[in-house]
Amino acid sequence: MIVVFLGPPGSGKGTQAKLLSKQKHWPQLSTGDMLRASIEKKTRLGEEAQAFMDQGKLVPDSVVIRLIEERNKESDCRLGFILDGFPRNISQAQALDQMLSRQMRKVDWVIFFDILDVELVKRFSGRRTCVQCGSMFHLESVPSKLGNQCDQCGGVLSQRPDDQPEVVEKRLAIYHEQTEPLVGFYSQQNKLKNLDARLPALEVFNRLSDLLK
Ligand code: AP5
Repeated sequence: MIVVFLGPPGSGKGTQAKLLSKQKHWPQLSTGDMLRASIEKKTRLGEEAQAFMDQGKLVPDSVVIRLIEERNKESDCRLGFILDGFPRNISQAQALDQMLSRQMRKVDWVIFFDILDVELVKRFSGRRTCVQCGSMFHLESVPSKLGNQCDQCGGVLSQRPDDQPEVVEKRLAIYHEQTEPLVGFYSQQNKLKNLDARLPALEVFNRLSDLLK
């Protein structure tokens, strides 16, 4: 099954993708994580992407489409995968449809993470990510049992540079302008399922599992 997670920044897509990936053994294909890994490795692609990400802007379509095109051909994607943060505009969605149809595949479901901007702001200030294993925490709602250390691997927890308030504002504006139109795009294809993303993370996951039964 190919599932797209669609929703504003901070709505919990990454958190739920990790849980679903564990349950179903479908890999999580997160363009944000792939771009951050390229920045970390100081590749040319990473250098190109960083300027856009630091300003909260979308990285050019050609870059992210190429990332997904290469990644989805790997053997672990054979039975299905979760697209987290891709597509992010109509032209990426069209490119995805074309890419999958060449492989005789299609997007099965699109999960829309439904939550208002006002409820998201506190999620950014408290988000912490493990620099070693990528586990995600929140100082209040999903704290690590080890304080500022990851309780999965002991790694240090860090704050994402694009979680600064002025960058968050830009990311939310770009989401409404470029990504939100995908709600209509996928709803016309009868693929959209609504998920109440305001609830506590485990309750969101129970509902997500029900939606995909
Ligand atoms: P990306 O990494 O994809 O970020 P995003 O979509 O902005 O989403 P986030 O990762 O911020 O949030 P999330 O929804 O995954 O929430 P999370 O689970 O972390 O993209 C970053 C940048 O890369 C973009 O700005 C762009 O520049 C570039 N990019 C990426 N993809 C691109 C594309 N396709 N095209 C062009 N450019 C692209 O949760 C947030 C916090 O809340 C965490 O602390 C978590 O612990 C907590 N939390 C989660 N769920 C709950 C809950 N239910 N209740 C309370 N707290 C919760």
